[in-house]
Amino acid sequence: MTSPEAKKQIQELTDKINYHNNLYYQKNKTEISDYEFDQLLVNLTQLEKEFPELKLPDSPTQRVGGTITKEFPSVVHEYPMLSLGNTYSPQELEDFDGRVAKGLDGEPYEYFCELKFDGVSISLKYENGILVKGVTRGDGVRGDDVIANVKTIRSLPLKIKSKNVPAKFEVRGEVFLPKHVFKQLNKDREDIGEETYANARNTASGTLKMQDSSEVARRKLDCFLYYLLGEENNVETHEESIKKIESWGFQVSQTYKKCKNIAEVLKYIEHWEKKRNDLPLETDGVVIKVNNLRQQEQLGFTAKSPRWAIAFKYKAESVSTRLNGITYQVGRTGAVTPVAELEPIFLAGTTVKRASLHNANEIARLDLRIGDFVFVEKGGEIIPKVTAVDLTKRSGKLQPVKYISKCPECGTALVRQEGEANHYCPNEDGCPPQIKGRIEHFIQRKAMDIDSLGERTIAQLYDLGLAKTPADLYDLKKEDVMKLEGFKELSTKNLLQGIEVSKSVPFESVLFAIGIRFVGKTVAEKLARHFKTMDALAHATYEQLLEAPEVGEKIAQSVFDFFHRKESLREVERLKKAGLQFESSFKEPEKLSNALDGKSFVISGTFQNYERDQLKDVIVANGGKVLSSVSKKLDFLLAGENMGPAKREKAEELGVKIISEQEFEKMIK
Ligand code: IVH
Repeated sequence: MTSPEAKKQIQELTDKINYHNNLYYQKNKTEISDYEFDQLLVNLTQLEKEFPELKLPDSPTQRVGGTITKEFPSVVHEYPMLSLGNTYSPQELEDFDGRVAKGLDGEPYEYFCELKFDGVSISLKYENGILVKGVTRGDGVRGDDVIANVKTIRSLPLKIKSKNVPAKFEVRGEVFLPKHVFKQLNKDREDIGEETYANARNTASGTLKMQDSSEVARRKLDCFLYYLLGEENNVETHEESIKKIESWGFQVSQTYKKCKNIAEVLKYIEHWEKKRNDLPLETDGVVIKVNNLRQQEQLGFTAKSPRWAIAFKYKAESVSTRLNGITYQVGRTGAVTPVAELEPIFLAGTTVKRASLHNANEIARLDLRIGDFVFVEKGGEIIPKVTAVDLTKRSGKLQPVKYISKCPECGTALVRQEGEANHYCPNEDGCPPQIKGRIEHFIQRKAMDIDSLGERTIAQLYDLGLAKTPADLYDLKKEDVMKLEGFKELSTKNLLQGIEVSKSVPFESVLFAIGIRFVGKTVAEKLARHFKTMDALAHATYEQLLEAPEVGEKIAQSVFDFFHRKESLREVERLKKAGLQFESSFKEPEKLSNALDGKSFVISGTFQNYERDQLKDVIVANGGKVLSSVSKKLDFLLAGENMGPAKREKAEELGVKIISEQEFEKMIK
């Protein structure tokens, strides 16, 4: 393909992707399947790899990440990022209103109310319509530019399409993990034996500071905007600026309302107190802003916060109830979770009987005793949590909780690895919830996708001794299934058919399905594509595992251990005999040249013309190999900006050649 042809195609693909993205995120509509959409992105990525100089500054491929940022540049905010004065009481709100009225010398004024989104604030800078900086709040004066991560937020325009956009402006808003995304993230983590995250806000904050933007892209952050700054915005009220940023394609929560006076504000507050629980993200209050921008200016700022705005915070609903006992749940990976059994109590619309206690540390931190009265809180739709003991109600003779030492399901002595918060039941092959959980993991959609099987059927199969491992599913006969409660001719046929069809799911999914601890869907994909076959993976040494993308010591050890247990080897062998896919059908991108045949590279730092993943692909496409650590065998250390000093020292010590991005480009030209 010639450069002009590529340019045309890049533009066409970009337009198409942007069109569908906009349809999906702004209008909640779809015209093509997820697969077709991904295919468009893959094609564009491929073209950008071949013609890096043609990559557009607002390319939608940035949504999928790929940049590694070792250290985020610190940036001084053009306008400091202040916080808001807080109040929990209507009376203080009236006082605020009084101060506003006084500050405006009797002039009429209006308020603009918004919800207070509980996320991480971000400042976005646009120049000539293009998103150029995404800066965290930091200490309010300077923050970190996390632009590569911000660009993965799909609802954010990378380029403003509207005409008449000021050459420079800034929008601020709140980055968050939607509740359902956070829930799924924790479910996925639990499923592969990772510890779960405590709350959506901190997770969003941690995600925004991750070095690998492709991981950020997978986390699916979202963002609501609520503040426009700049010198040429041509707006007189906050309402106008909100409407303006909406028309430019920014996502604005449709929960705002203009209010004539503080009585209306109080109504708004009351209206959202309960309803906010139905919103897709967590909110912790209401922000009340004077609507007119000239009046805002007149009111000005104190050292810490604006005089023209205030946050009314909802009190977290908290009730005190008796802790009747603690039970313990055992998950698929053997992780034990303690659960508080509570005297039933009404809280924020539902009756609460149980609350998660996470782990032994949490019980110790709360200093819980059976019979204690404890405070229980609920945040949105998240599971209720025990926040503290009501010490005023503690009677003298209660004993501190002693954590169990044996598995409540199978009686095996529990273990706790150093540095881990959870206790585990090590009886992988004999503990019922672990066995059933493994089969449930195996059949899920992202894995073998056997939707004719569900939790209840699996429990029955297990109880009847028909399925103790996933491989047993492939030995099921019609007469076995007919023994299950409620199964007749047709449902039996369906069930067996579902199992049969699963034999064709790709190797990537099979590898995820077999349930290696710490191997989630993405890692399974990377492993499958790197090693190509189950056999190669099973025979890989620990060091070879470490060479695969996304694989660190923890995962390498877990995969290595898995393939060195005779139980798992036997299971894998049976699955192979059953006819599952054990080879990846993923096609490597076409080779561009043999220029780097037999040469190995370690990539370090950041680069001008390439994202990091791109660089990897370029090396592979030209016949080279990418390694993760510097050793004597390495041919080149490809040094970008901000390269870690340790790598350079090691390369110098071992006599490995260090090359720049420009030298590298000469090698492939
Ligand atoms: S306006 C000058 N509006 O709350 C004040 N802030 O305590 C500009 N927040 O740092 C902020 N929702 O992170 C504003 N609708 C909203 C908000 C909001 C959440 C956060 C924001 C800010 C903090 C203030």
